[in-house]
Amino acid sequence: MSGCIPASTHDSFHEKDKNEVVEMSVLMSCYNIDDLAKLARRRIPKPVFDYVEGGADDEVTLAQNISAFRRYQIVPRALRDVSSISTETSIMGCQIPFPFYISATGFSGMMYPGEGELAGAKAAAKVGALYMASTFSNRTLEEIAGVSDADKLFQVYVLNDQRLSEELLRRVKQAGYKGLCLTVDTVTGGNRERDARSGLSIPPRLTIKSVMQYMMRPKWLLGYMSSPHSMALGNFPNMPKVSVTNSEAFTAAMGQLFKKNLTWADAEKMVKEWDGPFAIKGIMSAADALKAKEIGATAIILSNHGGRQLDGTPAPIDLVEEIRAAVGPDMEIVVDGGIRRGTDIFKSLALGANACSLGRAYVRGLSAGGEAGVVRALQILETEFSRCMTLAGCTSIDEITREHVKRVD
Ligand code: FNR
Repeated sequence: MSGCIPASTHDSFHEKDKNEVVEMSVLMSCYNIDDLAKLARRRIPKPVFDYVEGGADDEVTLAQNISAFRRYQIVPRALRDVSSISTETSIMGCQIPFPFYISATGFSGMMYPGEGELAGAKAAAKVGALYMASTFSNRTLEEIAGVSDADKLFQVYVLNDQRLSEELLRRVKQAGYKGLCLTVDTVTGGNRERDARSGLSIPPRLTIKSVMQYMMRPKWLLGYMSSPHSMALGNFPNMPKVSVTNSEAFTAAMGQLFKKNLTWADAEKMVKEWDGPFAIKGIMSAADALKAKEIGATAIILSNHGGRQLDGTPAPIDLVEEIRAAVGPDMEIVVDGGIRRGTDIFKSLALGANACSLGRAYVRGLSAGGEAGVVRALQILETEFSRCMTLAGCTSIDEITREHVKRVD
């Protein structure tokens, strides 16, 4: 089966030097998103890997985001002409080749020192995928916009400093981002005990606990120490670089930056000022979904921040049906959390979502191999998703309906 992402995305092997050929073959031998995680684990220090993979408290929500997909079984339809299928769709005013996109992940300079977010944005542009930049990127939103002429979204955290927040939105508009996404589940940091155990500190501190972890990844360490962007708050050049000695301090430092008294009235004002595709990320109830619709948001992202914030919240996939029924057919719904397989995306759409967004599935590719690693992650999911559509007897996104999935408890 051929997908939207051609094999030629990975340029001809003849043009590559030996290292690149070896690197490409290592990535191509990652057959799924979990394989990319295994490769990432070998390439980035444990504290950074744990920062990416970990969740809050007992990580119950983190695990359930993934396992909840098993509650849904795919019901294929037989004897349908699937000789030609299209995975194209649209979200937030952007035409996209497949119904998933790269979600905002801050501090990508930790996962891929040097290029950081630029590697992700370039990979997305290469395959026409949608990329959402984070407020807390290490590179500036203008640099990210500059490396890709593909459509992009911007994720916004509202800061305590109102003047800075207003200035940020002006810059986002000017840089040509198509849609704005307000994250509402981060008024304070989550309790991520994995980070404390593995000795996360920024910049890396070579303590007895962590020295081996960093020294065993010399390429990462060199790249990280030599890059001026590592842990810079790219979008706020006048703010000092993040420097914290432990995970609690990291959470506290981030928490202090956020506006804690953000309300629906502020969100409504932002929707009006932005005057374009606007999503609220972190919606977890039908009541809030309806509120988002009422204030004029065009999309909601059902998300518990990948289980990184409040442990014990439901898996987003379990909310889709109820929330679709509440908001009606027109509002766009994105499922965010636990997407590791093309079949997860198919199930989300069958239950009523318009698209899915990728957190760790993307970061694993980035940590494993920068731009090429992200292309590989997108390619894996695109191939899995189009194969799933074909086997389920669907030739277009519109043909994926509620009858294609059944819930088993
Ligand atoms: C995130 N996420 C996130 N969300 C956001 O709105 N702004 C941000 O800056 C970040 N940063 C971030 C960093 C890292 C390392 C991770 C793993 C996640 C959350 C992200 O956008 C998304 O909601 C979840 O990651 C989705 O869950 P999965 O796909 O990781 O299971």
